[in-house]
Amino acid sequence: MSGGVRVSPLNSYNSMKDSDPVRTYSWLANKLNDYHLAYLHVMRADSLGEQQGDVMTPICSIYQGTIIGNMGYGAEEAEAAIASGQIDAVAFGTSFLANPDLPTRFAKNAPLNSPDSSKFYSAGPEGYTDYPYLVT
Ligand SMILES: Cc1cc2nc3c(=O)[nH]c(=O)nc-3n(C[C@H](O)[C@H](O)[C@H](O)COP(=O)(O)O)c2cc1C
Repeated sequence: MSGGVRVSPLNSYNSMKDSDPVRTYSWLANKLNDYHLAYLHVMRADSLGEQQGDVMTPICSIYQGTIIGNMGYGAEEAEAAIASGQIDAVAFGTSFLANPDLPTRFAKNAPLNSPDSSKFYSAGPEGYTDYPYLVT
């Protein structure tokens, strides 16, 4: 077993762009089948909302190993996507940033803190370590 690979086929952050993400990443998913990765982690959408498309369906149909989905999942959609067999796991980014106890909140169906995007990529701890835990 080797390491994992993360791909962001649609993400336009830092001016990234692919003229045909479905074709490019279908090709890549097929190639990666040869490498026995621990996982293929797929950011399924564009964090800036500029590039649209469905990259998950083709990647999931081609790639035969473990797939982690990411981007905009909530607990219910994550569970449904895993239960359907489309993907094996979900990675939570901003919701984990804003909720240090995210698994507990999911388990208790508790409300989530909203991430404050003005504090993303900041230099200090603010916005990273100061979101409140659930009061029990
Ligand atoms: C503050 C911050 C820093 C991030 N840094 C990176 C990074 O260095 N590399 C990367 O591939 N994605 C990075 N991401 C994107 C996240 O890994 C994730 O793909 C994104 O938040 C979407 O998942 P979510 O909808 O669960 O938040 C970052 C996101 C945030 C909010």
